[in-house]
Amino acid sequence: MRYGGSRKKRALVRWFLILCAVFTCISWLMLLTLTSDDRPPNTAGKVAVVDFPGQLELHDVERDVVLSSTETPKQAPAKAPKKTPAKSCATVEEMGKAFKGRILKETLAVRRIIQRHFSINGASRIRELPPEQFCSHGFVIGKASEAGFGNEMYKILTAAALSVMLNRSLIIGQTRGKYPFGDYILYSNVTFTLREVKHLWRKNDCVKKYGRHLVMRTDDFEKPTKTNALCSNWRKWHQPIIWYQATTDAVAAQFFLKNIHPDMTNAATELFGKPENLQSRPNVFGELMRILISPSRDVEEAVNWVIGGGGRDPDITLHMRMLMNRSLRAAQAALNCVRRATRNLPQGSKPRVVVISDSPSFVKFITPNISEFAEVLHFDYKLFSGNVSHIMKSSSTLEFRVKDWGPAPRWVAFVDFFLAARAKHAVVSGAHRRVGTTYAQLIAALAAANSIGENSTASSFSFLSSFQGNLLAEGLKLQIGWGHAWNRFAGPLSCRGQPNQCALTPLLPPAWWDSLWQSPIPRDINRLEQYGVQLTGFGTTDENQIRSFCSTRKTIVKTISYI
Ligand SMILES: *[C@@H]1O[C@H](CO)[C@@H](O)[C@H](O)[C@H]1NC(C)=O
Ligand SMILES: *[C@@H]1O[C@H](CO)[C@@H](O)[C@H](O)[C@H]1NC(C)=O
Ligand SMILES: *[C@@H]1O[C@H](CO)[C@@H](O)[C@H](O)[C@H]1NC(C)=O
Ligand SMILES: *[C@@H]1O[C@H](CO)[C@@H](O)[C@H](O)[C@H]1NC(C)=O
Ligand SMILES: *[C@@H]1O[C@H](CO)[C@@H](O)[C@H](O)[C@H]1NC(C)=O
Ligand SMILES: *[C@@H]1O[C@H](CO)[C@@H](O)[C@H](O)[C@H]1NC(C)=O
Repeated sequence: MRYGGSRKKRALVRWFLILCAVFTCISWLMLLTLTSDDRPPNTAGKVAVVDFPGQLELHDVERDVVLSSTETPKQAPAKAPKKTPAKSCATVEEMGKAFKGRILKETLAVRRIIQRHFSINGASRIRELPPEQFCSHGFVIGKASEAGFGNEMYKILTAAALSVMLNRSLIIGQTRGKYPFGDYILYSNVTFTLREVKHLWRKNDCVKKYGRHLVMRTDDFEKPTKTNALCSNWRKWHQPIIWYQATTDAVAAQFFLKNIHPDMTNAATELFGKPENLQSRPNVFGELMRILISPSRDVEEAVNWVIGGGGRDPDITLHMRMLMNRSLRAAQAALNCVRRATRNLPQGSKPRVVVISDSPSFVKFITPNISEFAEVLHFDYKLFSGNVSHIMKSSSTLEFRVKDWGPAPRWVAFVDFFLAARAKHAVVSGAHRRVGTTYAQLIAALAAANSIGENSTASSFSFLSSFQGNLLAEGLKLQIGWGHAWNRFAGPLSCRGQPNQCALTPLLPPAWWDSLWQSPIPRDINRLEQYGVQLTGFGTTDENQIRSFCSTRKTIVKTISYI
């Protein structure tokens, strides 16, 4: 049952191929059937009825069939090319339809899981435990360096997710007594520092009284041949601390969805949902951030300065990762996408749109056009003289990062982050090349979590990806890195030559390829093979194959001893 996802997908794929054949061969018959009924022509039963209508819009099929069977293409809209009746690929917007709407229920469920977890495993309860219980308690540590914020934050959040799955407490790793990004970010008091755990370990005399040494087991996700993400039951690990290294995006934590031990898959599924079920992806990382981090006072001061004393929170955030490029087409696509997002706003006052970018010149370039229909908010750090700007003097800009992070001083990215995450209704992510980077994902995830109150009954939050057509000439193939929201859709099922897209995007980027329009690029098939997973061109996996791979593999245990 646990692997129903892959089976279902294989069944879908098989059915899909049959469907293509049927459509291609007897489209005239389809035409007759479809015009008389709004449902697909029976045969395939439940799978077809449940999974196809959203993706393969029947009206589209009908229109395409009509198009290809009439000899008057001039009557068709100019941009609708003559298509074969059955779709063998989807546009980003079509793929995004799976993410429409219903995150509220799943997200509130995950919020409760996380709250319960930290009420049991939070520092305030654990540090008061009697020695015997304390010394048998487990921890997961999240460590980050001060490199790119999105990737580094994902390391902390993956540790947090793992602590939930393993029912352990969370330690935030420090470097020389300093939290990661500690000048800009405060960490919740539900977390421990390693220093405190060491102190408590000694105080409770865990070594002498219980023979428990403070040992940390490490597992490096970036070393496919060494990681135990798929093959080991981490809930049985007895080492007091676990460090899951190099987890720079949403993927590593979700690898446990395919772990061969039911203990692990159940824990992962409870948190992330089933991998094939794109309709209900809970906002796990957003909810974790909501509990774990907040802006430092200085950063918050700057955020409030932009919003204006007593000003309304922004409605929409536009994030453009431009790598110093000032592409007109990217700007045009993003403008349309922001416009579309404003249409879903409650009627009333002028929308407030936050614009952030790694490229200040791009902000100048696009602001006048957004101002035509919205009030633009932007953090111009040169005009700000609050406390945070003094940190600037001590933190020099790293020259070699300028291309990647932009020319603004480092702390500006944190003001931008927390400012952007105040958006109440939508986050739009556009880019010169990489849409939906980890930084943009986390902004959207935190904003969505903030937008859902304790007792919400409705949420209309959307995360949108803006793609200019030239980025999609070869489909989503350019979205190569695992940190990109659309990577799991980048294979051959994404259509070439798409026009501009403004697509709903998952708040929790998928880590597997189990749902219908997901397909891997060759690079990922190779990479998964290093992890021991044989991935088909359609993205399906075989649980028996993973199991037999694991049975032949030597378990690697790496530890570090503290006390
Ligand atoms: C989690 O750990 C606590 C003790 O710290 C225990 O009481 C509880 O039953 C555990 N929950 C699960 C689901 O293992
Ligand atoms: C932890 O933080 C919360 C909220 O910030 C606060 O209400 C609570 O009193 C703090 N607990 C401890 C033990 O400091
Ligand atoms: C910006 O991107 C476009 C399209 O990819 C490219 O043609 C152009 O050379 C780039 N300009 C700069 C300054 O990098
Ligand atoms: C912004 O507006 C100006 C003036 O109307 C127009 O020339 C320009 O093309 C617009 N920019 C974009 C990106 O649409
Ligand atoms: C800014 O710094 C001054 C002096 O250190 C302090 O009094 C003030 O409270 C700070 N403002 C904020 C918002 O932290
Ligand atoms: C949510 O509902 C509960 C129970 O009805 C109530 O106690 C709580 O105060 C409400 N919280 C908010 C933020 O309205």
